[in-house]
Amino acid sequence: MAEETETEKPLFSPTDVSLHASTKDCWVVIHGKVYDVTKFLEDHPGGEDVLLHASASGDATEAFEDVGHSTSAISMMSSYLIGSIEDYVPPSATKDATAIGSDVLPDSRTMQRNKGSPAPNTFLDFVLPLCMLGMAFAAWYYLTFVAES
Ligand code: HEM
Repeated sequence: MAEETETEKPLFSPTDVSLHASTKDCWVVIHGKVYDVTKFLEDHPGGEDVLLHASASGDATEAFEDVGHSTSAISMMSSYLIGSIEDYVPPSATKDATAIGSDVLPDSRTMQRNKGSPAPNTFLDFVLPLCMLGMAFAAWYYLTFVAES
């Protein structure tokens, strides 16, 4: 009975959608909704290649949003809607997860790598002024006591 409250359009798995990524049969996923854009491929103002690419990528949400489609483009979408993705996880959610897993790791690795470099820098920073101080002292000594005599 609870299932009757579900949307009337069918639910698809990401695997179902991945089987439809050709010029003859092209589905795209945008915000968890599945659109059959096969008939729209030739007419799409952005070209058919972007739609095919978006279809093959699995989730076209970000690509779609990045373009900044007009409201008329968005209203066109309903005519291509064929269903939804079961248990849809938005790309931003997966990005957050990878941020913890991978995006942060290279940073910490970079930091660890950089940990070695301050040591030689600190050494040079210390020795160079000392050398200059020594040379200044030598010059002063020469000019004051040696050159005058
Ligand atoms: C059912 C889905 C889609 C519909 C109905 C649709 C519709 C449209 C329409 C009407 C335009 C003309 C510009 C506008 O009115 O915004 C457009 C442009 C465009 N679309 Fe789509 N689109 C869809 C999906 C996608 C996807 C998944 C991508 C992925 C990258 C995409 C990429 C583009 C690009 C690159 C342009 C050209 C923008 C420009 O030249 O300024 N579209 N689309």
